[in-house]
Amino acid sequence: MHIVITGAGCGIGRKMTHQALARGWQVTATVRHAGTAPDGAEELVADMRDPDGLAQFCAGLQDVDVLVNNAGIIGPARQATLDMDFAGFAETLAVNTLAPLAMAQAVLPHMRAGGRILTISSQMAWMGYAKSDRIAYRTSKAAVNKVMQGLATDLRPRGIAVILIDPGWVRTDMGGPDADEDPAAVAAGILDIAAQDGLAKTGRFLRWTGEERDF
Ligand SMILES: NC(=O)c1ccc[n+]([C@@H]2O[C@H](COP(=O)([O-])OP(=O)(O)OC[C@H]3O[C@@H](n4cnc5c(N)ncnc54)[C@H](OP(=O)(O)O)[C@@H]3O)[C@@H](O)[C@H]2O)c1
Repeated sequence: MHIVITGAGCGIGRKMTHQALARGWQVTATVRHAGTAPDGAEELVADMRDPDGLAQFCAGLQDVDVLVNNAGIIGPARQATLDMDFAGFAETLAVNTLAPLAMAQAVLPHMRAGGRILTISSQMAWMGYAKSDRIAYRTSKAAVNKVMQGLATDLRPRGIAVILIDPGWVRTDMGGPDADEDPAAVAAGILDIAAQDGLAKTGRFLRWTGEERDF
């Protein structure tokens, strides 16, 4: 089992990397700073703000079973509909929406039928909420849901599954210390999903526990 995990420098991505190695899987981990991937993982240094540059970083990959698009940012300090940092909004879209698709495109030449592409989205993407706080982040995650839903449609004939994950509210740098979920438990839940034959669930939005949820 060869899994590629983006954003392995900290948070959920780092926990997933350690746990995947402990499961005996081959792990390729992307980080922004050379020498910071966990021992035992193959390191790819890549910045998700440059989606066009990702293909060259992935050119040397071989036989990838699973890609987990985990790297993400919460977005700029000023992200209200009536007071928007547009450069920060664009960066949020680049990292949270465009890079997952660019990573999928970069990895696909190295993935056979049976492969899985998992993308960490958020409950903040849910269209049922009319909340307006952190609207750049909410928008980027709603948009990546739509992108991945379309990718699932396009890859189903090739036998490759595309699944969106809601990790809940997790105690990481992003989620903060008051969040509900233990990052180690969430990482384990995501790896359990990654380990399964995904085609039955392709195009779906799953909680980290595996149950389906609304978009
Ligand atoms: N925590 C939550 O409550 C929560 C809830 C819903 C969804 N999520 C999603 O879960 C995923 C992981 O979040 P987390 O809580 O683990 O956050 P985190 O602790 O802040 O970790 C984010 C990871 O993304 C990487 N990253 C950020 N910008 C990047 C860039 N430009 N290029 C490459 N990598 C970049 C970071 O790299 P560095 O280590 O180099 O900074 C870090 O490894 C994200 O997609 C997030 O949106 C989290």
